[in-house]
Amino acid sequence: MLTSPRKLLPLIANHSSNRSPMTCKYRCGDACFHEVPNTSEGAYLGDIIASGISRRSLLKVGAVVAVAGAGAATLGAQPAAAAPAQAARGLAFTPVPPNSEHAVSVPEGYTSKVLIRWGDALFSDAPAFDPENQSAAAQERQFGYNNDHLDLFEIRRDEHVMVINHEYTNEEIMFPGYDPSAPTQDQVEIAWAAHGLTVVGVTGAAQGRPSGELTTVVDHRLNRRLTATTPFELTGPVAGSEHVRTTADPDGRTVLGTLNNCAGGVTPWRTWLTAEENFNQYFAGADEVTDPVVRERLRRYGLPGGASERKWEAYDPRFDLGAEPNEVNRFGWIVEVDPFDPESTPRKRTALGRFKHEAANIHLSRQNQVVAYMGDDERFDYLYKFVSRDAFRRNNPEHNATLLDNGTLYVALFNGNSPVEEIDGSGTLPSDGGFDGAGEWIPIVTSDEAGAHSHVEGMTGVEVLLFTRQAGDAVGATKMDRPEDVETNPLTGVLYVALTNNTNRGTGTNPGPDETNPRSSNRHGHVIELMETGNDPRAYTFDWRIFLLCGDPNDPSTYFAGYDKSQVSPISCPDNVTFDPYGNLWISTDGNALGTNDGLFGVAVDGEYRGQVKQFLTVPISAETCGPKVTETRVLVCVQHPGERSGATFENQFSHWPDGGTSVPRPAVVVAWRPDGIRIGR
Ligand code: FEO
Ligand code: CA
Ligand code: CA
Repeated sequence: MLTSPRKLLPLIANHSSNRSPMTCKYRCGDACFHEVPNTSEGAYLGDIIASGISRRSLLKVGAVVAVAGAGAATLGAQPAAAAPAQAARGLAFTPVPPNSEHAVSVPEGYTSKVLIRWGDALFSDAPAFDPENQSAAAQERQFGYNNDHLDLFEIRRDEHVMVINHEYTNEEIMFPGYDPSAPTQDQVEIAWAAHGLTVVGVTGAAQGRPSGELTTVVDHRLNRRLTATTPFELTGPVAGSEHVRTTADPDGRTVLGTLNNCAGGVTPWRTWLTAEENFNQYFAGADEVTDPVVRERLRRYGLPGGASERKWEAYDPRFDLGAEPNEVNRFGWIVEVDPFDPESTPRKRTALGRFKHEAANIHLSRQNQVVAYMGDDERFDYLYKFVSRDAFRRNNPEHNATLLDNGTLYVALFNGNSPVEEIDGSGTLPSDGGFDGAGEWIPIVTSDEAGAHSHVEGMTGVEVLLFTRQAGDAVGATKMDRPEDVETNPLTGVLYVALTNNTNRGTGTNPGPDETNPRSSNRHGHVIELMETGNDPRAYTFDWRIFLLCGDPNDPSTYFAGYDKSQVSPISCPDNVTFDPYGNLWISTDGNALGTNDGLFGVAVDGEYRGQVKQFLTVPISAETCGPKVTETRVLVCVQHPGERSGATFENQFSHWPDGGTSVPRPAVVVAWRPDGIRIGR
């Protein structure tokens, strides 16, 4: 990767992590600087699970807690060559040490390249990228900004369709002469075109033989851009309701655009789910709303009032709540996209609830019912799942297109099994040796063709779907440390929940530590294993235990599933997760609070090496690692927000990655592979 001389801009004091205040501003609308939106009492539902309801799956996991193998490779600060016998299958690589490089780093023996960057043409009629003379028309035919989630769908051997979302824009480093107090209409329209989604064909053959390398295909028949102005259809019980009707759309069924798409997932029927996350930041004028009920809803979703950061309301009144109070209700959904039909209208699936959706990941029950697990990425917010009424049917796309409109939405209640006085906020394990316990999925709304049927007193079904956080408050769901990506291990059925951090835990009037979120001022986050009763994703109850308490392994509050902490890579702020073909968990980080670059880590979850976290890759300083995808032959990551450092401007960039010289930083997808043709981690 190219590196170039640069001047270091001052790092302005930030909140909980190594994330730049500039990232906080543009990505989340400074979510962590505002009051915690969840001020609910967290009503206790009473004793729930008798412990022992289903210890089977828990024991299955517990039985494999590893003891460090004699002679295991030294990781972290002094990486030594790791022989295959010293790591789990699929994780035999020399870990990348923590660093602050202006480059992507991969293990010895691997190589990487930029697959596609902001501004790269998807169509041959797109103009060449010229950041000094960008236009909305050009941007609509080019790869968007700040790629986050990515996934691959195989078309045929070595031909795939790749899907990527573009979470947000950073106008200060995108546009020459940008004035945050008065953006021009051109700049705003380019930003609309740089948000959204990309679908692009990729091929994987190099010199006629299979390789981990990938190349994008300009003018592939499936190439597509969807932006903040593309029509999307609302489906499910909220579609057409009074809460989503606007001047431009009196029927309440057609929304222009998707915003702030974070992570996502794929369905068994080969569609893509992408999640609208910090949508609140795009809407101005919450303080103009006088109805106290509506005001409280807006407050609960983090709409503080005043102008928005990007001032889009100046060029489209739908972003002004005073003019269009319902437009905001049309964002915050899980969106389903058919990447195989470039003419299709994507659908916002309202039966899955509305919150700051991190992602949606599907696991099929033995009966082929669809279970979608979802986190609400906010301090002290909740974990959810949706269970479809009907079963997935192979080769029946019309039927499968209805699955996410009919079913029940649940929110998670976790209970610990250790005495509360043993959970002191320090991370010290309780006397039973684990942060663990049981839990319950509380049904909050059931959707079908007839509408939405509320299970929450005082709320209609449509209100539960629209103001899902308030339903979670009402039933006393467990307040978590920012639930991010959630993924089921396809080999075992155990669910992994990434909780990125929560420095407000146990501070001021905020909730204190509990066994599920056991560290006060949780800077580094943790990962929970959740075992559904009977290993049935439809279950109403579950067991759980903490798998990782992240941070510097020398920090006594960390925990690596019992693995020898001298043998692991430091890891902080787990965010997106995925599994490789061998059942190893891969974790990407967002805002590494240890001060070094974000990265991608592999960790065995079973067997002798359970808990042995190994860093596979780091992204350039100031960037975030997103969208990991790990196959037998390649690793893909999104490098999001390179160069996003407070004080940076278009004219005074912090980073010139990936093009070097004096170029603008360009968010990009990177693919890593082994040129010798050996599989990843073997
Ligand atoms: Fe877009 Fe929850 O991170
Ligand atoms: Ca315990
Ligand atoms: Ca994320």
